[in-house]
Amino acid sequence: MNFHQPVLLDETLQILKVAPNKTYLDATLGNGGHSLEILKKGAVVYGLDQDPGNLEIATRRIQEAGYSKNFHPIHGNFSQLKKILKKHKITTLNGILFDLGLSKNQQISQDRGFSFNDSSSLDMRLDPTIQTETAENIINTADFDTLYQIFTKLAQEKYSKPIILRIIRQRQQKPIQTAKRLADIIRNYYQTNSIPTKIDPSTKVFMALRIYINQEFENLRSALKQTLEILPSNAIVAVISFHSGEDRIVKQFIRQNSPLIQNLTPKAILPKQSEININPLSRSAVLRSFKII
Ligand SMILES: C[S@@+](CC[C@H](N)C(=O)[O-])C[C@H]1O[C@@H](n2cnc3c(N)ncnc32)[C@H](O)[C@@H]1O
Repeated sequence: MNFHQPVLLDETLQILKVAPNKTYLDATLGNGGHSLEILKKGAVVYGLDQDPGNLEIATRRIQEAGYSKNFHPIHGNFSQLKKILKKHKITTLNGILFDLGLSKNQQISQDRGFSFNDSSSLDMRLDPTIQTETAENIINTADFDTLYQIFTKLAQEKYSKPIILRIIRQRQQKPIQTAKRLADIIRNYYQTNSIPTKIDPSTKVFMALRIYINQEFENLRSALKQTLEILPSNAIVAVISFHSGEDRIVKQFIRQNSPLIQNLTPKAILPKQSEININPLSRSAVLRSFKII
Protein backbone atom coordinates (compact mmCIF):
# COMPACT_ATOMS: atom_id res chain seq x y z
CA MET A 1 0.00 0.00 0.00
CA ASN A 2 1.08 3.55 -0.71
CA PHE A 3 1.04 5.01 2.81
CA HIS A 4 0.35 8.63 3.72
CA GLN A 5 3.67 10.48 3.84
CA PRO A 6 4.22 11.90 7.35
CA VAL A 7 4.62 15.68 7.26
CA LEU A 8 7.38 17.62 9.09
CA LEU A 9 8.61 14.29 10.46
CA ASP A 10 12.12 15.21 11.66
CA GLU A 11 10.91 18.54 13.04
CA THR A 12 8.12 16.78 14.97
CA LEU A 13 10.41 14.12 16.48
CA GLN A 14 12.85 16.81 17.51
CA ILE A 15 10.28 19.08 19.10
CA LEU A 16 8.72 16.14 21.00
CA LYS A 17 12.23 15.17 22.18
CA VAL A 18 11.51 11.52 21.36
CA ALA A 19 13.84 9.14 23.21
CA PRO A 20 13.89 5.50 24.42
CA ASN A 21 11.33 4.58 27.11
CA LYS A 22 9.37 7.81 26.80
CA THR A 23 5.61 7.49 26.21
CA TYR A 24 3.60 9.37 23.60
CA LEU A 25 0.02 9.65 22.45
CA ASP A 26 -0.29 9.99 18.70
CA ALA A 27 -3.79 11.49 18.74
CA THR A 28 -4.10 11.27 14.94
CA LEU A 29 -2.53 7.93 14.07
CA GLY A 30 -3.53 7.96 10.37
CA ASN A 31 -1.36 5.43 8.52
CA GLY A 32 1.05 5.39 11.46
CA GLY A 33 3.85 7.31 9.70
CA HIS A 34 4.81 9.46 12.69
CA SER A 35 4.11 6.68 15.21
CA LEU A 36 6.37 4.20 13.45
CA GLU A 37 9.33 6.59 13.61
CA ILE A 38 8.63 7.33 17.30
CA LEU A 39 8.56 3.57 17.98
CA LYS A 40 11.83 3.09 16.09
CA LYS A 41 13.43 5.46 18.59
CA GLY A 42 12.48 3.07 21.41
CA ALA A 43 9.51 4.99 22.79
CA VAL A 44 6.06 3.65 23.68
CA VAL A 45 3.14 4.86 21.54
CA TYR A 46 -0.59 4.95 22.14
CA GLY A 47 -2.06 5.47 18.67
CA LEU A 48 -5.52 7.03 18.54
CA ASP A 49 -7.73 7.47 15.48
CA GLN A 50 -11.44 7.94 15.04
CA ASP A 51 -11.36 6.25 11.63
CA PRO A 52 -11.52 2.47 12.18
CA GLY A 53 -10.08 1.90 8.67
CA ASN A 54 -6.94 3.92 9.37
CA LEU A 55 -6.55 2.34 12.79
CA GLU A 56 -6.45 -1.06 11.10
CA ILE A 57 -4.03 0.08 8.36
CA ALA A 58 -1.59 1.60 10.89
CA THR A 59 -1.79 -1.35 13.29
CA ARG A 60 -1.02 -3.83 10.51
CA ARG A 61 1.79 -1.63 9.18
CA ILE A 62 3.42 -1.33 12.60
CA GLN A 63 3.01 -5.07 13.20
CA GLU A 64 4.60 -5.93 9.85
CA ALA A 65 7.49 -3.55 10.59
CA GLY A 66 8.07 -5.44 13.87
CA TYR A 67 7.30 -2.61 16.29
CA SER A 68 4.00 -3.73 17.80
CA LYS A 69 5.49 -4.54 21.24
CA ASN A 70 5.43 -0.91 22.36
CA PHE A 71 2.37 0.09 20.34
CA HIS A 72 -1.20 0.35 21.64
CA PRO A 73 -3.92 1.18 19.10
CA ILE A 74 -7.05 2.97 20.37
CA HIS A 75 -10.24 3.75 18.51
CA GLY A 76 -11.66 7.11 19.56
CA ASN A 77 -11.98 10.84 19.10
CA PHE A 78 -9.35 13.13 20.61
CA SER A 79 -12.16 15.36 21.87
CA GLN A 80 -12.53 12.64 24.55
CA LEU A 81 -8.88 12.71 25.66
CA LYS A 82 -9.49 12.63 29.39
CA LYS A 83 -11.95 9.73 29.20
CA ILE A 84 -9.69 7.79 26.81
CA LEU A 85 -6.66 8.10 29.08
CA LYS A 86 -8.72 7.01 32.07
CA LYS A 87 -10.27 4.05 30.24
CA HIS A 88 -6.89 2.80 29.01
CA LYS A 89 -5.20 3.51 32.35
CA ILE A 90 -2.62 5.79 30.72
CA THR A 91 -1.13 7.59 33.66
CA THR A 92 1.95 9.19 32.24
CA LEU A 93 2.69 10.82 28.90
CA ASN A 94 5.77 12.68 27.70
CA GLY A 95 3.95 14.20 24.80
CA ILE A 96 1.00 14.27 22.42
CA LEU A 97 1.02 14.72 18.66
CA PHE A 98 -1.92 16.11 16.68
CA ASP A 99 -1.39 15.86 12.90
CA LEU A 100 -4.72 17.29 11.83
CA GLY A 101 -6.88 16.78 8.78
CA LEU A 102 -7.09 13.77 6.53
CA SER A 103 -4.58 11.16 5.43
CA LYS A 104 -4.02 10.77 1.70
CA ASN A 105 -5.93 7.48 1.48
CA GLN A 106 -8.96 9.18 3.06
CA GLN A 107 -8.68 12.12 0.66
CA ILE A 108 -8.55 10.01 -2.49
CA SER A 109 -10.87 7.23 -1.40
CA GLN A 110 -13.73 6.65 -3.84
CA ASP A 111 -16.37 5.73 -1.27
CA ARG A 112 -15.96 8.27 1.56
CA GLY A 113 -17.12 11.44 -0.21
CA PHE A 114 -13.94 13.49 0.45
CA SER A 115 -12.66 13.30 -3.15
CA PHE A 116 -14.09 15.62 -5.83
CA ASN A 117 -14.18 12.63 -8.18
CA ASP A 118 -16.01 10.24 -5.88
CA SER A 119 -19.04 9.19 -7.89
CA SER A 120 -20.46 6.81 -5.30
CA SER A 121 -20.70 8.79 -2.04
CA LEU A 122 -21.07 12.16 -0.30
CA ASP A 123 -20.51 10.92 3.24
CA MET A 124 -17.48 12.71 4.78
CA ARG A 125 -17.76 11.12 8.24
CA LEU A 126 -14.38 10.23 9.72
CA ASP A 127 -16.04 7.76 12.08
CA PRO A 128 -19.06 6.17 10.40
CA THR A 129 -19.48 3.83 13.40
CA ILE A 130 -20.52 6.71 15.68
CA GLN A 131 -21.36 9.82 13.64
CA THR A 132 -24.82 10.01 12.10
CA GLU A 133 -24.79 13.32 10.20
CA THR A 134 -23.44 13.04 6.65
CA ALA A 135 -22.51 15.70 4.09
CA GLU A 136 -25.17 14.20 1.82
CA ASN A 137 -27.83 14.88 4.42
CA ILE A 138 -26.69 18.48 5.01
CA ILE A 139 -26.43 19.27 1.30
CA ASN A 140 -29.91 17.91 0.60
CA THR A 141 -31.81 19.14 3.64
CA ALA A 142 -30.16 22.25 5.14
CA ASP A 143 -31.77 25.63 4.44
CA PHE A 144 -30.00 28.50 2.69
CA ASP A 145 -28.86 30.20 5.92
CA THR A 146 -27.33 27.04 7.37
CA LEU A 147 -25.35 26.30 4.20
CA TYR A 148 -24.32 29.97 4.01
CA GLN A 149 -22.93 29.87 7.56
CA ILE A 150 -21.03 26.65 6.85
CA PHE A 151 -19.49 27.78 3.55
CA THR A 152 -18.59 31.32 4.64
CA LYS A 153 -17.58 30.83 8.27
CA LEU A 154 -15.61 27.61 7.88
CA ALA A 155 -13.94 28.20 4.52
CA GLN A 156 -14.63 31.81 3.45
CA GLU A 157 -16.14 30.76 0.08
CA LYS A 158 -16.68 34.11 -1.68
CA TYR A 159 -19.39 32.82 -3.99
CA SER A 160 -21.43 31.01 -1.34
CA LYS A 161 -24.71 32.68 -2.22
CA PRO A 162 -24.93 31.80 -5.94
CA ILE A 163 -23.44 28.35 -5.30
CA ILE A 164 -26.06 27.57 -2.65
CA LEU A 165 -28.85 28.75 -4.95
CA ARG A 166 -27.56 26.32 -7.59
CA ILE A 167 -27.34 23.49 -5.05
CA ILE A 168 -30.92 24.11 -3.95
CA ARG A 169 -32.17 24.18 -7.56
CA GLN A 170 -30.30 20.97 -8.38
CA ARG A 171 -31.42 19.06 -5.31
CA GLN A 172 -35.06 19.91 -6.10
CA GLN A 173 -34.61 18.06 -9.39
CA LYS A 174 -32.79 15.06 -7.88
CA PRO A 175 -31.02 14.53 -4.52
CA ILE A 176 -27.27 15.25 -4.67
CA GLN A 177 -25.80 11.91 -3.63
CA THR A 178 -22.19 12.01 -4.78
CA ALA A 179 -19.18 14.22 -4.21
CA LYS A 180 -18.65 14.39 -7.98
CA ARG A 181 -22.10 15.83 -8.61
CA LEU A 182 -21.59 18.46 -5.91
CA ALA A 183 -18.13 19.34 -7.28
CA ASP A 184 -19.56 19.63 -10.81
CA ILE A 185 -22.28 22.05 -9.65
CA ILE A 186 -19.61 24.30 -8.09
CA ARG A 187 -17.17 23.96 -11.00
CA ASN A 188 -19.96 24.77 -13.40
CA TYR A 189 -20.72 28.01 -11.55
CA TYR A 190 -17.07 29.09 -11.69
CA GLN A 191 -16.73 28.14 -15.37
CA THR A 192 -19.98 29.78 -16.51
CA ASN A 193 -18.91 33.01 -14.83
CA SER A 194 -15.28 32.73 -16.00
CA ILE A 195 -13.95 33.05 -12.44
CA PRO A 196 -10.22 32.31 -12.44
CA THR A 197 -8.96 29.96 -9.71
CA LYS A 198 -5.64 28.23 -9.06
CA ILE A 199 -7.24 25.39 -7.12
CA ASP A 200 -10.26 23.22 -7.89
CA PRO A 201 -13.29 25.53 -7.44
CA SER A 202 -14.93 23.04 -5.07
CA THR A 203 -12.00 22.97 -2.62
CA LYS A 204 -13.44 25.46 -0.12
CA VAL A 205 -16.97 24.04 -0.04
CA PHE A 206 -15.62 20.52 0.45
CA MET A 207 -13.33 21.70 3.25
CA ALA A 208 -16.16 23.54 4.97
CA LEU A 209 -18.44 20.50 4.81
CA ARG A 210 -15.74 18.19 6.15
CA ILE A 211 -14.93 20.54 9.05
CA TYR A 212 -18.64 20.87 9.85
CA ILE A 213 -19.53 17.17 9.64
CA ASN A 214 -16.56 16.15 11.81
CA GLN A 215 -16.74 19.15 14.18
CA GLU A 216 -13.05 19.62 13.62
CA PHE A 217 -12.65 23.05 15.24
CA GLU A 218 -14.69 22.14 18.34
CA ASN A 219 -12.76 18.87 18.76
CA LEU A 220 -9.41 20.67 18.54
CA ARG A 221 -10.40 23.37 21.05
CA SER A 222 -11.67 20.74 23.45
CA ALA A 223 -8.60 18.50 23.12
CA LEU A 224 -6.14 21.36 23.65
CA LYS A 225 -7.99 22.41 26.79
CA GLN A 226 -7.84 18.86 28.13
CA THR A 227 -4.07 18.64 27.63
CA LEU A 228 -3.71 21.13 30.50
CA GLU A 229 -5.59 18.78 32.84
CA ILE A 230 -4.05 15.47 31.82
CA LEU A 231 -0.40 16.18 31.11
CA PRO A 232 2.35 16.41 33.72
CA SER A 233 4.99 19.14 33.88
CA ASN A 234 7.46 19.11 30.98
CA ALA A 235 5.16 17.13 28.67
CA ILE A 236 5.16 18.50 25.14
CA VAL A 237 2.26 18.97 22.73
CA ALA A 238 2.91 19.30 18.99
CA VAL A 239 0.18 20.30 16.55
CA ILE A 240 0.48 20.19 12.76
CA SER A 241 -2.37 22.07 11.12
CA PHE A 242 -3.25 22.53 7.46
CA HIS A 243 -5.86 25.27 7.61
CA SER A 244 -5.67 28.86 8.84
CA GLY A 245 -8.75 28.29 11.04
CA GLU A 246 -7.06 25.40 12.86
CA ASP A 247 -3.78 27.25 13.18
CA ARG A 248 -5.58 30.26 14.67
CA ILE A 249 -7.10 28.01 17.35
CA VAL A 250 -3.66 26.64 18.28
CA LYS A 251 -2.01 30.08 18.25
CA GLN A 252 -4.74 31.59 20.43
CA PHE A 253 -4.64 28.66 22.83
CA ILE A 254 -0.90 29.05 23.33
CA ARG A 255 -1.21 32.81 23.83
CA GLN A 256 -4.13 32.58 26.24
CA ASN A 257 -2.55 29.91 28.42
CA SER A 258 0.96 31.25 28.52
CA PRO A 259 1.48 31.23 32.27
CA LEU A 260 0.63 27.52 32.35
CA ILE A 261 2.52 26.55 29.21
CA GLN A 262 5.68 27.57 27.41
CA ASN A 263 5.50 28.38 23.72
CA LEU A 264 8.17 26.21 22.04
CA THR A 265 7.53 27.70 18.59
CA PRO A 266 7.41 31.51 18.83
CA LYS A 267 7.97 31.21 15.09
CA ALA A 268 5.83 28.46 13.56
CA ILE A 269 7.75 25.65 11.85
CA LEU A 270 6.96 25.26 8.14
CA PRO A 271 8.04 22.53 5.70
CA LYS A 272 11.23 23.17 3.75
CA GLN A 273 10.98 23.54 -0.02
CA SER A 274 12.72 20.16 -0.36
CA GLU A 275 9.86 18.49 1.56
CA ILE A 276 7.20 20.31 -0.47
CA ASN A 277 8.89 19.11 -3.68
CA ILE A 278 8.67 15.49 -2.56
CA ASN A 279 5.27 15.78 -0.87
CA PRO A 280 3.11 18.64 -2.23
CA LEU A 281 0.42 17.83 0.39
CA SER A 282 2.80 19.25 3.01
CA ARG A 283 2.77 22.77 1.51
CA SER A 284 0.15 24.22 3.88
CA ALA A 285 1.46 22.49 7.03
CA VAL A 286 2.23 24.59 10.13
CA LEU A 287 3.81 23.05 13.23
CA ARG A 288 3.30 24.69 16.62
CA SER A 289 4.24 23.29 19.99
CA PHE A 290 4.07 24.02 23.70
CA LYS A 291 5.38 22.56 26.94
CA ILE A 292 3.41 22.16 30.15
CA ILE A 293 5.05 24.17 32.92
C1 LIG B 1 -3.18 13.71 8.58
S1 LIG B 1 -3.74 12.17 9.17
C2 LIG B 1 -2.42 11.65 10.21
C3 LIG B 1 -1.31 11.01 9.44
C4 LIG B 1 -0.27 10.34 10.31
N1 LIG B 1 0.46 11.29 11.11
C5 LIG B 1 0.68 9.53 9.45
O1 LIG B 1 1.86 9.89 9.36
O2 LIG B 1 0.24 8.55 8.85
C6 LIG B 1 -4.96 12.60 10.35
C7 LIG B 1 -5.65 11.42 11.00
O3 LIG B 1 -6.34 11.92 12.14
C8 LIG B 1 -7.58 11.31 12.25
N2 LIG B 1 -8.43 12.24 13.00
C9 LIG B 1 -8.91 13.44 12.60
N3 LIG B 1 -9.62 14.01 13.58
C10 LIG B 1 -9.57 13.16 14.64
C11 LIG B 1 -10.13 13.19 15.96
N4 LIG B 1 -10.89 14.21 16.37
N5 LIG B 1 -9.87 12.16 16.79
C12 LIG B 1 -9.11 11.11 16.36
N6 LIG B 1 -8.59 11.01 15.12
C13 LIG B 1 -8.81 12.03 14.27
C14 LIG B 1 -8.03 11.08 10.82
O4 LIG B 1 -8.97 10.03 10.76
C15 LIG B 1 -6.70 10.74 10.14
O5 LIG B 1 -6.50 9.36 10.16
